[in-house]
Amino acid sequence: MKESTVSEIKDLILSLKKNGKIISFVPTMGNLHQGHVSLVERARKESDIVVVSIFVNPTQFGPNEDFNNYPRTLDEDLKKIKEAGCDIVFTPEVLEMYPTENERLNNNKSELDKNISRTMVSAFQKNKVLCGKFRPGHFDGVLTIVLKLFNICMPDKTYFGLKDYQQYILIKDMVKMLNLDIEVIGCPIIRDKDGLALSSRNSYMSVEQRKKALSLSKALNSIKNAFKEGEKDNKKLKGLGLSIMSDDDINIQYVEIVDSETLIPVREAGEGNLVAIAGYCGNTRLIDNIIL
Ligand code: PAJ
Repeated sequence: MKESTVSEIKDLILSLKKNGKIISFVPTMGNLHQGHVSLVERARKESDIVVVSIFVNPTQFGPNEDFNNYPRTLDEDLKKIKEAGCDIVFTPEVLEMYPTENERLNNNKSELDKNISRTMVSAFQKNKVLCGKFRPGHFDGVLTIVLKLFNICMPDKTYFGLKDYQQYILIKDMVKMLNLDIEVIGCPIIRDKDGLALSSRNSYMSVEQRKKALSLSKALNSIKNAFKEGEKDNKKLKGLGLSIMSDDDINIQYVEIVDSETLIPVREAGEGNLVAIAGYCGNTRLIDNIIL
């Protein structure tokens, strides 16, 4: 079943909940691949009704980012999630989710007027590190749309990929902080056979760039191997990752080893720490991570 208005999907889900159904929810921006599908399959196993949203959320893209070019492949997406066991798809238009966006886009208005009807969810500290440092406002956009989608879809459980590890942590924090009665489940990163983490943005890369992009998983694995062999020095481990990626012409944004809950950098690497990296391969921004 496909719904695109808030009132229709709310009515539908409310009636299912009245009948005692356990609702699971997988938010996405579409252009779905096996990473997304794995979340839907997991949700299928653990609930009665699986809801997936497909919405390219404008408020999480910076002014020079790829909102307009983000791949939109609704027909293929619908097929994939249906096969994976999705019951209800929510595909709203931008104005359905942000009714004041019309005013905001009207250039005759002052900045203050444009934003006057905007309420955003914001995180502290953890949205300033890792990707947050390089994408100001990004996580506010993510938290805002995810809270709106939670309020609309009213799930008991929600599934997020650990590929976007910082996003997963910020959502978990928001759910706890705002007393939402939703179980947040983190699911493993799905990779291509050669190790590249699946991402909707991988399609932007040429064959040559795609080869270079392997540098990210190579760097993570080398750091993990060095750690296993006894290297604990954060600087040395980071240096290893940095040199592998710069050899492959990756324009590195960061290589960080952090506590996997607080996201604060550790001095000495320890088991359970998160190694997170980001960089550009050509014009394509890639992220990846591994737990030590
Ligand atoms: P999107 O990038 O479409 O990702 C939707 C979900 O799929 C996220 O939970 C993401 O972590 C997960 N995912 C993506 N690639 C994955 C991979 N290779 N393995 C496992 N899971 C993977 O993340 C977003 O959309 C948006 O920020 C959203 C939460 C929908 C809010 O707009």
